[in-house]
Amino acid sequence: MRLSLKDLSKKYEAKEKITMVTIYDASFAASAEQAGVDILFIGDSLGMTVQGHDSPVPVTVDDMVYHTRAVVRGSKQGFVIGDLPFGAYHESPQQAFRSAAQIMMAGANMVKLEGGAIMAEAVEFITKRGIPVCGHIGLTPQSYNALGGFRVQGKSDEGAKQLLNDAKTLQNAGMSMVVVEAVPATLGKELTASLSIPTIGIGAGPDCSGQVLLAYDMLDIFPGKKAKFVKNFLANNGSIINAFAAFVKEVKNGTFPGPEHCY
Ligand code: KIV
Repeated sequence: MRLSLKDLSKKYEAKEKITMVTIYDASFAASAEQAGVDILFIGDSLGMTVQGHDSPVPVTVDDMVYHTRAVVRGSKQGFVIGDLPFGAYHESPQQAFRSAAQIMMAGANMVKLEGGAIMAEAVEFITKRGIPVCGHIGLTPQSYNALGGFRVQGKSDEGAKQLLNDAKTLQNAGMSMVVVEAVPATLGKELTASLSIPTIGIGAGPDCSGQVLLAYDMLDIFPGKKAKFVKNFLANNGSIINAFAAFVKEVKNGTFPGPEHCY
């Protein structure tokens, strides 16, 4: 049986760290859940890792549906979250619901969307109609043009305040979980302490409720420069399943991320 949102809430209440990996296909889904990964996440990072674009911006809802179906077919236990791609949810809450419904019909258990307080209306509309939502704040790759590149966010007092306000506003709108990307570890800690839902960090320090990495990063498949928060889990673990298992172990026992992976 698949993990449910309730099962994830129990882990959160028990202060057990939650593990999430970005994957895009059936084989990686099977390996990740066999290794004990809690959340199988189909990210629009596939625009870069699979499709070869410079950013996730060209990814479509049809792309996300295709990859979500593949992950769902390849797995039995993992909680499945599908990303809403750029342009598929900003126009109106109704448009956001239509896109989210397609991802859910592909088999996801939850959708993820990027953005701050401005997305509260859409989050409320979607969640009130039965679709759980995971937010994504901090470095939001779909907005890399506006952010001036893939940069650490929330470094200034004003920036940190803004992110805290965004997170609380989205939580009040019904968001059940939030990915926090590339912020100072101190802010990751503050966000986690000030919310009553799990924070899943990627470059947000060790105090988040859980951690996420892209499989293509942790297995050293994606070429090019790595972000500071990436650790190669394949190098010392021999196989893909062992690498996923090492990620799970290190997140659960609090040894990943180390200070070298934090801002
Ligand atoms: O698309 C993706 O893989 C993501 C992760 C950074 C969580 O959004």
